[in-house]
Amino acid sequence: MKCVALKGKKRLEVANINRPKTKDGSVVIDVKKAGICGSDIHYWDIGLPEGLVMGHEFCGIVTDPGSRNDLKVGDRVTGLPISPCGKCPACLSGNPQYCPDTWTYAVGLSLTNPGGYAESTSVRPDLVIKVPSNITDSEVAMVEPTAVGLHAVNLADIKIGAKVLVIGAGIIGDICAMFAKMNGASYVAISETNEKRGKKAVTLKCADEYFDARDEKFMEKVKKECPFGYDVVFDCSGNSAAVSTALTCVKPNGVVVMVGVSMESITIPSIALVMHELKVYGAIGYTYDEFKECIDLMSSRKIDMLKFVDDIVGLDGVQNAFERLTSGEDNAIKILIDPSR
Ligand SMILES: NC(=O)c1ccc[n+]([C@@H]2O[C@H](COP(=O)([O-])OP(=O)(O)OC[C@H]3O[C@@H](n4cnc5c(N)ncnc54)[C@H](O)[C@@H]3O)[C@@H](O)[C@H]2O)c1
Ligand SMILES: [Zn+2]
Ligand SMILES: [Zn+2]
Repeated sequence: MKCVALKGKKRLEVANINRPKTKDGSVVIDVKKAGICGSDIHYWDIGLPEGLVMGHEFCGIVTDPGSRNDLKVGDRVTGLPISPCGKCPACLSGNPQYCPDTWTYAVGLSLTNPGGYAESTSVRPDLVIKVPSNITDSEVAMVEPTAVGLHAVNLADIKIGAKVLVIGAGIIGDICAMFAKMNGASYVAISETNEKRGKKAVTLKCADEYFDARDEKFMEKVKKECPFGYDVVFDCSGNSAAVSTALTCVKPNGVVVMVGVSMESITIPSIALVMHELKVYGAIGYTYDEFKECIDLMSSRKIDMLKFVDDIVGLDGVQNAFERLTSGEDNAIKILIDPSR
């Protein structure tokens, strides 16, 4: 079958791999839609591991239910792409995101489990979730990143009337901003180096105001609304300078949630952290309940995730989609893949 595999630095190619078969009870699905994630871009940037078939955000139709007796051929599903052991204290406490095995065999993030950038993929049976008929394939493919944002916002424990700064207006930043507002934030600012994305976050009603992170007077401007500092700051860029901004824009004893991923060590102004007794959280993935909650929020129309989908491309359009998403000038936020195109 056809897939898109990582072939080198910033290079993806359409390739052929064996169609997956059920193994250890796994559910095999034909991929209807898969999302391109900012995390995929990190792998693309370095070109490693070579041969990786990405795609941890997916919607598919069951072709082999494996050990899932409650599923049948033709059911529409998504799944948590992770590989928690199910036995460790983290797993037993309902926090698979802390399990040391969670990313080892993750779908679309490991060489052993090719993901949704392919005609078909295979998912661990206990992590497959049947989805309601009133949400579209594209929405289903948006469940995973939505759960990332929900988890980050749940960690921040935003109070009614809070003032929030979100750094980075990619899909993760926009979702954090959206949930911050739903949680009662009275003012959400967003900062970006890509002006089109920054302005779009305001147009999409995720944020109240956009600030250009490249502006010489950025610090002065971004703190105008809350000179004493923001209650909560989310870094959704993984950029070193942005993390410093987060630590210096938050109020004393305020909360910084680091969602963005940096493959390299970054330098921080630790003095700001110490002197202001900041609470800095890392946020990774989601719990099973948060993942399911996102499906419910879409199904009950509490959130509209389709507004973030800019384009849908076939497998031969994936390389170009990555180039668009990393150009720094395009306003696209989320591009989905439809392997049947
Ligand atoms: N922690 C998790 O569980 C988790 C899950 C998914 C993604 N991520 C990470 O979150 C980050 C965001 O994901 P995404 O899909 O939205 O990625 P993305 O690359 O589409 O968005 C990142 C945005 O940050 C902007 N940016 C870069 N430097 C900046 C700066 N100094 N100031 C302001 N904005 C800046 C970029 O222009 C870009 O629009 C990525 O690093 C991704 O790997 C983390
Ligand atoms: Zn993702
Ligand atoms: Zn575990």
